[in-house]
Amino acid sequence: MLLFFITLCGVECFAVDNTMLAQGQPGLSNLEDGYLTALGSTLVNNGEVHKLDLVAAESQTGIIVPYRAKVWTYNGKIPGPVIRIRLGDTLEVTLINRLKQPTSIHWHGVRLPNTEDGVPGLTQQAVASGASYLYRFTPRDAGTFWFHPHVKSSEQIEKGLHGVLIVEDPKQPRYSQDLVWILDDWLLDREGQIVDRFVTRHDLAHDGRWGNFVTVNGQPQPSFTVSPGERIRIRLVNVANGRVFAPRFTDLTPRVIAVDGMLVAQPFPLDQLFLAPGNRIDLDLVVPKDYQGTSLELVDIFSRESLSLARLAVSNVQAVETPDFPSPRAEYFPDSEQVYATPVYHDFQLNAERGGYYGITWTIDKQAWPEITPLKLRSGKFYRLRFSNLSSRLHPMHIHGQFFQVIARGEKTVRENYWRDTVLIGPKESVDIGLVPVDKGKWANHCHILEHAEAGMMGVIAVQ
Ligand code: C2O
Ligand code: CU
Repeated sequence: MLLFFITLCGVECFAVDNTMLAQGQPGLSNLEDGYLTALGSTLVNNGEVHKLDLVAAESQTGIIVPYRAKVWTYNGKIPGPVIRIRLGDTLEVTLINRLKQPTSIHWHGVRLPNTEDGVPGLTQQAVASGASYLYRFTPRDAGTFWFHPHVKSSEQIEKGLHGVLIVEDPKQPRYSQDLVWILDDWLLDREGQIVDRFVTRHDLAHDGRWGNFVTVNGQPQPSFTVSPGERIRIRLVNVANGRVFAPRFTDLTPRVIAVDGMLVAQPFPLDQLFLAPGNRIDLDLVVPKDYQGTSLELVDIFSRESLSLARLAVSNVQAVETPDFPSPRAEYFPDSEQVYATPVYHDFQLNAERGGYYGITWTIDKQAWPEITPLKLRSGKFYRLRFSNLSSRLHPMHIHGQFFQVIARGEKTVRENYWRDTVLIGPKESVDIGLVPVDKGKWANHCHILEHAEAGMMGVIAVQ
């Protein structure tokens, strides 16, 4: 991957984003103040400017081992590029569209100006075949993010168009290794080619398109070498169209230090979390010193049959000194009881109906994209929103440009002390979230099962 580093100085240094809300502002309750203190840290862009091109094209070289499946890629590779920058740095990405169809790039989970969010029909026009488009932004948060097209995503993401964006915070401790594991599945035919039928009735009647070939970083069950005693950060990213993973290590329980990019308030064992499409989980794992010559296996236990995903092969060498530091955690996380006492402001009804372009239409409040009415919210105000799943399928709901806290499932209060940008809602389940929108603009609110979204399940939250 080509990265040019250019340091800008002078006027642009320490520019402060003026859409930010001041904390301690009169009229804000403790609750809102708490959320804004945790989320609304003033944006500083005093870092480097990274310029790079992302060429979306049918790939000649990118393959899924062991098949020679034709894929679509950014810059010719499966898995897509992993871009690493530092907090305060600015990204200047030129998307060059060499596909035969329009595309765009959405920066999943990144809080950025609405104009850079990459949603055709909402924040920009789709980038036509042969055209290019410039995205420029300074991420507000450090963490694990990813990017992908927001046009025909059922086809474009499935075929391989996705990449990872890591924003590093020099204040966070250094691990022995920092691994990125991109979890995906592919629906391949007998010849090992990607089945070229998208948004089928079957996908729509189920939880989207589930593949028959699961990969980590484009390979089935890859192995990564570690030394005994090493302390590893593993960033799990689910880029699958529909598949939900419940990733677990067979021999030990690593700690979760970040969910959807953002550090958790209190690291906790990985024994409950699901990794739905769109979700990220960062793990803190210490390789036991007496594990020489053995291996640690990551498996998925979401489906009935547990599935081997990847392995850490522990080399047969002398154990190294384990880096000793407390797991990184969010500096501050709000814990106001008012969150739980606030009434529901809006209840999104998630359901399906017969008819429409694909024969089945997925709806939010009986509306299907693009014929939707945006939900208007005010920046800086606390809202409790509910997703009520009236259907018997899964819906990982994702809100662009915002982080929210899950505060209830059904009647039961939930105390998640971390943020999410995507939450999995089970059949007939309802989930309440708390959020204080910060950045103004039109933000998509959709199911991240890409087939459900394509068949209508996308609305808009307009933050004013
Ligand atoms: Cu990965 Cu509209 O999202
Ligand atoms: Cu859905």
